Amino acid sequence: MIQVKEVSKSFHKSSASNQVIDNISFEVKKGEIVTLLGKSGCGKSTLLNIIGGFTTADSGNVFVDEHKVTRPKRNCITLFQHRNLLPWRSVQKNVELGLEKEDLSVQERRVRALNAIELVGLKANAQQFPHELSGGMQQRVAIARAFAMKPDVILMDEPFAALDTFNRYHLQDQLLKIQEKEKSTILLVTHDIDEAVYLSDRILIMSAHPGKIYKDLKIELSKPRDRTTNDFHYFRKRILDEFELSGIQNPMEYMI
Ligand SMILES: Nc1ncnc2c1ncn2[C@@H]1O[C@H](COP(=O)(O)OP(=O)(O)OP(=O)(O)O)[C@@H](O)[C@H]1O
Ligand SMILES: [Mg+2]
Repeated sequence: MIQVKEVSKSFHKSSASNQVIDNISFEVKKGEIVTLLGKSGCGKSTLLNIIGGFTTADSGNVFVDEHKVTRPKRNCITLFQHRNLLPWRSVQKNVELGLEKEDLSVQERRVRALNAIELVGLKANAQQFPHELSGGMQQRVAIARAFAMKPDVILMDEPFAALDTFNRYHLQDQLLKIQEKEKSTILLVTHDIDEAVYLSDRILIMSAHPGKIYKDLKIELSKPRDRTTNDFHYFRKRILDEFELSGIQNPMEYMI
């Protein structure tokens, strides 16, 4: 579903050049949940933005559903690290935003939006405006907007980082339910090892300067997963060990 082929990217400032991504290649199959896990600044968001069609790679190509990515497309939605809500629109109207170009009646659009709002636990807040909500609640609105669009591919950049543990766990479960129902393909960026093990079919561990895929790790545990089992702890430990082997110092800083 997603093919990343030999993608490299540098940013230039005056005479200096900063190579952020170096020759990254991987694939995500239809219906898979794959996580990019790595240190702050290793190029996760840059890579996601290239896959979403918002940034151009210096070399290499990305294909989504066998079409070369040259710009953002409706079937591949990016949920950005910083929620992008329109302050003058209510929660419901923000969620409806992504549906406005679709061939839906006003009533259908409303129902789709309200269903997604309910999934993220904000039914009572549907008519409020972003400034009336906490940061975590605003993030849930952005998540609802992505869910409401039912895209084939969702690219998520640390979608749950601003949430408290209970909401994070709840939304992780909602994500798994929606993904199972819609058979969506999900590429997720996170710092959180626990979240990566809970959600992912595969984890791509990135090393930094320049960003590369250091390890492609399959999480062979059936879902739904139990965070308290030995198998779950085995994978957490395995990832911590991989960070050490990759030369990335202090893996604990990736745990939130
Ligand atoms: N538009 C830009 N112009 C110049 N440098 C950039 C730009 N975007 C990102 N960078 C640089 O590229 C590197 C990777 O940034 P990126 O945002 O991809 O990291 P990240 O892995 O997502 O980090 P975090 O976990 O903190 O979100 C950083 O050194 C950053 O300063
Ligand atoms: Mg980032």
